[in-house]
Amino acid sequence: MKLQATGTSPFDWSGDGLAIGIFEDELELTGELAALDEKLSGTIQELITEFEFKGKPGNTISTRVVGHSIRKLILVGLGKSDALKLDGLRRAAAASAKLAKKERCKTLGISLPVCNGDAASTAEAIAEGIELALFVDNRFKSEPDDKPAIEEVHLLGLAGQDAAIDHARKVVSGVFLARELVAAPANYVTPITLAETAQTIAQDYGLNVEILEKEDCEKLGMGAFLGVAQASDLPPKFIHLTYKPEGTPRRKLAIIGKGLTFDSGGLNIKGAGSGIEMMKTDMGGAGATLGAAKAIAQIKPDVEIHFIVAATENMISGRAIHPGDILTASNGKTIEINNTDAEGRLTLADALVYAEKLGVEAIVDLATLTGACVVALGDDIAGLWSPDDEVANQFLKSSEATGEKIWRMPMEEKYFESMKSGIADMKNTGARAGGAISAAIFLKQFVKETPWAHLDVAGPVWADKENGYNGSGATGYGVRLLVDWVMG
Ligand code: BES
Ligand code: MN
Ligand code: ZN
Repeated sequence: MKLQATGTSPFDWSGDGLAIGIFEDELELTGELAALDEKLSGTIQELITEFEFKGKPGNTISTRVVGHSIRKLILVGLGKSDALKLDGLRRAAAASAKLAKKERCKTLGISLPVCNGDAASTAEAIAEGIELALFVDNRFKSEPDDKPAIEEVHLLGLAGQDAAIDHARKVVSGVFLARELVAAPANYVTPITLAETAQTIAQDYGLNVEILEKEDCEKLGMGAFLGVAQASDLPPKFIHLTYKPEGTPRRKLAIIGKGLTFDSGGLNIKGAGSGIEMMKTDMGGAGATLGAAKAIAQIKPDVEIHFIVAATENMISGRAIHPGDILTASNGKTIEINNTDAEGRLTLADALVYAEKLGVEAIVDLATLTGACVVALGDDIAGLWSPDDEVANQFLKSSEATGEKIWRMPMEEKYFESMKSGIADMKNTGARAGGAISAAIFLKQFVKETPWAHLDVAGPVWADKENGYNGSGATGYGVRLLVDWVMG
């Protein structure tokens, strides 16, 4: 699909489908819209009145236009004019593109207002919304069940914003990689596949990649990660992908993604009704990490970034860890395993210790860590934990810019009490209440002094229903947030 910015106004544009943004409080057409309406023999006003179109955010309506230079007219609601944000543009662009595709438009002209007087971020948001909304994954279908694709989209009134569109395309390529990795089941995406994906990114864009095999991890004393991995027939892979800018880096950062390509629960096996069949998504953090790596490798910021995934499955076999086993992590701390289903934090423990040794200025981890976080915040919002206000605020800012929702949660040290062990330094799970908080406090035991943030993304990596620019299924959550954080 071609996406390009043009100075052409909706009045002069000709093509298949023309999408026009309409504010809730500007249903009385004036200026350019009134002129366009007149040219189209009153079609816009007619649509608004006849169908009681109110301009609510993301609402759309379309009609066939006869005898003019366009075939379909699409109106898309923008909500209140003083409340428009970048994510509103993303959603309006997504709704327009989905409808245009349904109406079998080959070319689409889209006219949306500039947000905050910033034409570049407006063009970027519109391009993102369109691309993300039109994503289809036919990899596992013998026959694609899809409508013909839109071939060309013109962003009207945004002349000169091709660089912004290009930036959006790079970011979106990372989101698509994350969606594909997360959607693919555990018999397609394994620790080996994740390592190969990192190697491909390294080769394609000139990054450095190191894959630590089981023996390498043993030498580093990664007993927590290897304990989780020991029941699987597949080898664990500890992935370390590095992007270095050409000059001196402005910042050095590490991004860690939980990479459980399947989580059976281990001997504390997930029962019926637990959603075990969804546990192919337990590498959602890794998907976001590799997706961000792919995007960042193309954008080339002046920041050094280490992408880290301790990839494995959590399985059962005669070699599985027993509940009650004691594991020693690479910082020497001992962990009594009172629940083999709290495995993500064990893999992250060794990844955090590894990341801190790299001497980075900040570490973030993304993990589908707890069902408790989904209970607390629902499917759309990730939980954010950080002892460091500065890093936390950086993420809140990136969340605002990208529309990837997060909510800061408390780092309640007292909850560590329920993880005290009589025999080891700690247990791996505490009380059921506040389970997402105690998981974060557990992780904190493995970070000494580097500013660190933890994002529990168990909810937003997957969507049961399509919503805005996300279809149903894997959302690619986190890629856009991470890219924005790195650039900021
Ligand atoms: N991968 C799960 C968390 C999860 C649950 C992700 C639902 C997505 C949807 C994680 O490894 C897990 O099993 N957590 C346990 C922790 C418990 C044993 C303390 C949980 O949330 O039940
Ligand atoms: Mn688990
Ligand atoms: Zn898990």
